Formats: sequence, structure tokens, C-alpha cells
Amino acid sequence: MTSSTPPSTPPSTPPSTPPAPADLVVHGGTVVNAGGSAAATVVVTDGRIVAVQDPALPLPPHRRAIDAAGSFVIPGGVDPHCHIGQRLGEYSQLDDYASASIAALWGGTTTVVDFAIPDPGQRPIDAVAERRKLAEISRCDTALHGCVIQWDATTAGQIAEMATTGVRTIKLFTTYKDVVMAGPDTVLEVLRTLHAQGGIAYVHAEANHVIEDAQASAVAAGEAAAGHMPRTRPELAEAAAVAQVLATAEHVDAPVYFVHQTTAEAVDLVRAARRRGVRAYTETCPHYLYLDEGTYAGDHPERFVCCPPLRAPETVAQLRARALVGDVDTLGSDHCCYSTGQKSEHSHDVRVMPNGLPGVETRLPVTFTQLVVRGGMPVERFVGMFATNPARLNGLTGKGVLAPGHDADLVVLDPAGRRPARIADLHMATDYSPYEGEELAGWPSVVVSGGRVVLDADGFHDPGPVGRALHADPMPDHLIT
Ligand code: URP
Ligand code: ZN
Ligand code: ZN
Ligand code: ZN
Repeated sequence: MTSSTPPSTPPSTPPSTPPAPADLVVHGGTVVNAGGSAAATVVVTDGRIVAVQDPALPLPPHRRAIDAAGSFVIPGGVDPHCHIGQRLGEYSQLDDYASASIAALWGGTTTVVDFAIPDPGQRPIDAVAERRKLAEISRCDTALHGCVIQWDATTAGQIAEMATTGVRTIKLFTTYKDVVMAGPDTVLEVLRTLHAQGGIAYVHAEANHVIEDAQASAVAAGEAAAGHMPRTRPELAEAAAVAQVLATAEHVDAPVYFVHQTTAEAVDLVRAARRRGVRAYTETCPHYLYLDEGTYAGDHPERFVCCPPLRAPETVAQLRARALVGDVDTLGSDHCCYSTGQKSEHSHDVRVMPNGLPGVETRLPVTFTQLVVRGGMPVERFVGMFATNPARLNGLTGKGVLAPGHDADLVVLDPAGRRPARIADLHMATDYSPYEGEELAGWPSVVVSGGRVVLDADGFHDPGPVGRALHADPMPDHLIT
């Protein structure tokens, strides 16, 4: 090789100052994204990932190093479906944003998305403002879904205003009449209006008339107690409502996301719509993949009362098969912290008792165990459902991907590790876990949130109320896959 510069020429610029050390390097592990995985070093500064580099390169100067040898390094979880300290009907969930976010971080979730469900008579936009205030004590980043119950002359304006405050997802319930149910006309207007804002409707789809009729016949037969939960909310109620909402979405050419789908039939309706070009998405929850209706015959049926209910073992197997082939987009915990006492008080009547299961902390190990360890799901697909897709379907651009420029939210987990779930070791504001005693894999050994190491071998390091209220970006007008 030749050089035009004579060897005697002195350097023309003074030596540069050494680069500032990175805050953190995570090295030795396999970095897993939804799009692929590779051995790599993650370099973090000022809360952001600044490099994901070849592991053969020397580590850059750093203040702290974490050795992830033998482990996966995955994006921090984005939980698209959490209910945090919300009053619904007669009962309030027992947590607040401090305890819920601490439990989330313990479980490898670094972003929680909660619902701003209006109290009776409250405007949706005011419910959003109230929730944002409550979220100021959060330890992890937060985002919100708005919620519309009844369309009126002000609703379109409120949806536009919500979008300017960074809320572009709206929850709609097709059931819970006289509490939060939205009629089909309201569903149509919200879908159409949100589409114009780059938003997506999040729909709880169960046909209310079928459920009320099933509940009435259960009551008449003396079978309204918690142990009879499945008969009060039949599977076909889910498929019926999904079909109707899909038709509405297709009619107004708007995207739609179905929360907590529990049956292959419902999932297949969404997939068929997608093949027609409808932007329709499926969420399921850890409990619908791991537990079945056999729990209602046990000692504490009330602890497992959730809507939709846990299903028959064949239904669970079919749902899991759909998830394994990639027909489920996201995993939401549908976290609801009620105590056994609250759930027992009216457990003779499922129409009155509070429904929902605690789960923000166990979403990762329960689904990692059931899908990756037992089901053989590629870990990249799992990361898509656990973090990447929920981030994209909430317009949370900085989340769910380990790449330069993204938020430094990451989880180190040893896929070979196993530990039983025990309420004594968990941090959710309740006295039970639906998974008590289950031997689970996928517990995080290290959690980094916003560049802060909040969980490591020494235990939990409470970062204080540092969580940011995230603003959703408009979502693209094409299928997000
Ligand atoms: O049982 C449940 N899922 N309770 C919470 C409210 C809802 O429907 O998501
Ligand atoms: Zn729901
Ligand atoms: Zn829910
Ligand atoms: Zn430490």
C-alpha cells in the first residue's frame, strides 16, 4: 500500500479526548429481537442503546458491565393490557402505579399500558388526565388506552384531543352492560374516528345478549357461583362479537385489536380478515395459554374468575397451537389485583364478584415456559409477542427492539433456569398467584429499564418515580406484522 503523506508529517489535528465511558455494557449473551438473534454486546448511555456490536470487538470504556453468558438478552416487555388500581363496579383493584410497576419490573416488563376507563358520567378525556396523574409514581414507563362508552357530539373532539396528548388507542367493551358496554353504533364511530388519528381500537369482544342469557339460565339452575364460571360466558359469545366488530372494521376500513382472545375460532376469524386486508390483531393472555377450566373445580374457583373465563382443555390446546404458528400477535397480562377476600365476598354470584387475575409479574415466565420451553416456539417469535408487537400496536416507537436509538429497556434471562411461582416471592398487591407452585422458566436475572439496572443478583433497586408517560405516535396505515 502507498501513501501520499510523507511519514515525517506531524498529525494535523491534536489527539482527540478519549470517548466518555458508556453507562453500561451487557456482553456475552445472545441478543434476541423479533427479526433475529445473534451473539452481541449491547452498549447503553443516557438511557438509550447506542450500539449493538460484534462480541469479538473489545468492550468500549464503560462504568458497569453485566456478563450475560449463557443467557438471552431480550427487549424489556411491553404489557399492552394492565388494569392498575381501577375501580370497576363495586370493587377496586388493590395496587397503584408504584406497586404495579415494581411488580412489572421484577417480571421483565418495562412498559405498562393501562386503561383510562371513565367513571359513571366522566368524560373519556378527563379519565385520561386523571390516570396520567396517578401514573406519576410509576417506576417504569407507562402508556394509556382511552375508553369510550357512549358516542355523543363531543366524542370525536375528545378523541382528537386524546391523540394530541399521545393517547391513540381506545378501549371498547361489547359487554358489561350498564357499566362500560359500548353499543355497535358507538363501536363504528370510534373505529372510524380513530383511524383518522392513526389510532387503533382495542376491543373486548363478547356478545352481551348471549352472556346475559347464559347467566340467567345459570341462575335459574342454581349454578351462578364461581365454580360454574365457564357456562355463564360461552365460547360462541366471543366468536359472535369478534365477527360483528370485524365486519364493522372492514366496513369503515379501520384497524382493530382484539384483547384477550381465548378460542381458536376467534383467532381464525381475525386471521381470515387479515387475509382480506383488514388490519386486525389478536392478543391472548398467559392464563388462556396455561390454565384451563379444571381450576373452577378446585378449592378456590373464585381466584380464577376472569372474563372471558378459562376454557376447556381442548380449547386451550387449540389456542396454544395457533400461538405457536404465529397467529397470535401479542401477549397481554390483563393484570387485575384483587385479593381472595374480595373475590370470595360474592363468589356465589359471578355477576357481582370482581373478575380478572393478577399477572403483570408472571407474564414472562408463564408464557416463556408454555410457548418456548414446552411448545418449541422460536424465541424471536416470542419476543415479537412479548415486546415488539405490543410496542408497535401502541405507537411506542422507542420500545420493543434492541437496536441503536431505542430505549435501553432489556431483560437478561437464562433459558435453562427454573423456579416455582410462589406468592411469597412475588410483588403484586394480592395474596395469591394463579400459578402457585408451578415450576417456570424465563424468570429475569437482570432487568434494565431506561438504562437503570433495576434487578440484578443483589435484588431489586427501586429507581423511584422515574417512569415516563409515553406518547403514542400515529400508527402506519398498513398491516403491522
Ligand atoms: O376478567 C377481566 N378480564 N377483568 C378485567 C376487565 C376486562 O374485561 O378486561
Ligand atoms: Zn376485557
Ligand atoms: Zn382487561
Ligand atoms: Zn445491584
